Amino acid sequence: MEQLLQQIEAYRQEIGSTQPDGAEALEAYRIKFLGTKGIVKNLFAEMKNVPVDKKKEFGQVLNEFKQLAEAKYEEWKSHTSGAQTSDGPGIDLSLPGDPLPLGTHHPITLVRNQIVHIFGRLGFSVEEGPEIEDDWHNFTALNLPENHPARDMQDTFYIHQKPDWLLRTHTSSVQARVMERQKPPIRIICPGRVYRNETISARAHCFFHQTEGLYVDENVSFADLKQTLYFFVQEMFGKDVKVRFRPSYFPFTEPSAEMDINCRICGGSGCNVCKHTGWVEILGSGMVHPKMLENFGIDPNKYTGFAFGMGIERICQLKYRVNDLRLYSQNDVRFLRQFTGAV
Ligand code: PHE
Repeated sequence: MEQLLQQIEAYRQEIGSTQPDGAEALEAYRIKFLGTKGIVKNLFAEMKNVPVDKKKEFGQVLNEFKQLAEAKYEEWKSHTSGAQTSDGPGIDLSLPGDPLPLGTHHPITLVRNQIVHIFGRLGFSVEEGPEIEDDWHNFTALNLPENHPARDMQDTFYIHQKPDWLLRTHTSSVQARVMERQKPPIRIICPGRVYRNETISARAHCFFHQTEGLYVDENVSFADLKQTLYFFVQEMFGKDVKVRFRPSYFPFTEPSAEMDINCRICGGSGCNVCKHTGWVEILGSGMVHPKMLENFGIDPNKYTGFAFGMGIERICQLKYRVNDLRLYSQNDVRFLRQFTGAV
């Protein structure tokens, strides 16, 4: 009996000093202590040789030892990932992995891509320009000299340290950059982010997205402008779309026009998106001002052109019925997930 207790104490120490080290060692440990011919089993077999008056005491010690051996095993097993044990295989490496959730395009990206695609079919290629612009490309070259009243309409963010620099207020700055380095024929669209110092609300944001379009060549007419934009909205919104052009003013186009389409939300019966008029303005456009062509050394007697600029959020709003501009930049996955699979 005394000997047995000493033996158990020695095993206790052995278990206490055993360092868990991999699945194989774990299994060896299990066989040694907990297996059918293992130490615990053998000690229980000794029970019959223990004198009756010691059986209770021995039984307690033995049970505690068994619990210790098992606890050690469980603890070790939980640290040994993929352990191959008699409980069954740990990891089946032939199983396919957990599927990753599908990502989605942001609705602004979706609409931008559609715009690029539609104009691409008409031969327009994509140009991009910097978001931090200088005064010349954003204003002056576009026939908006200093103190021009139209500058006030744009709520510009100026860059404090560099009075000549600003965050572009429209993608028309890219027109200027392209005409500066390229001569006609020019047929480009310029999607990108623009900034205006507006209080953020459902209807206004301090940044949003536009797509500019520019076509300069010989004999480009207002009829070309109308037909190109009509084609665009039919492709974007469906053949049943109705358009109307209203005379407008932009310093860099003459004549200028804004284009409305019949409201896609209420179908024309009146809602708060179309302010109960049945029409929604989607873009500004016009014939490139001769002064602007001259600014870039393009002969206005030989070449004419048209330009247009549209807000991507507005197209998105009409297409996907998003009524609050703030949703586009909040990155709420519940909003973004709704565009999974949209094209
Ligand atoms: N840049 C104008 C705006 O931001 C849109 C426009 C572009 C108008 C090109 C005419 C021609 O409102």
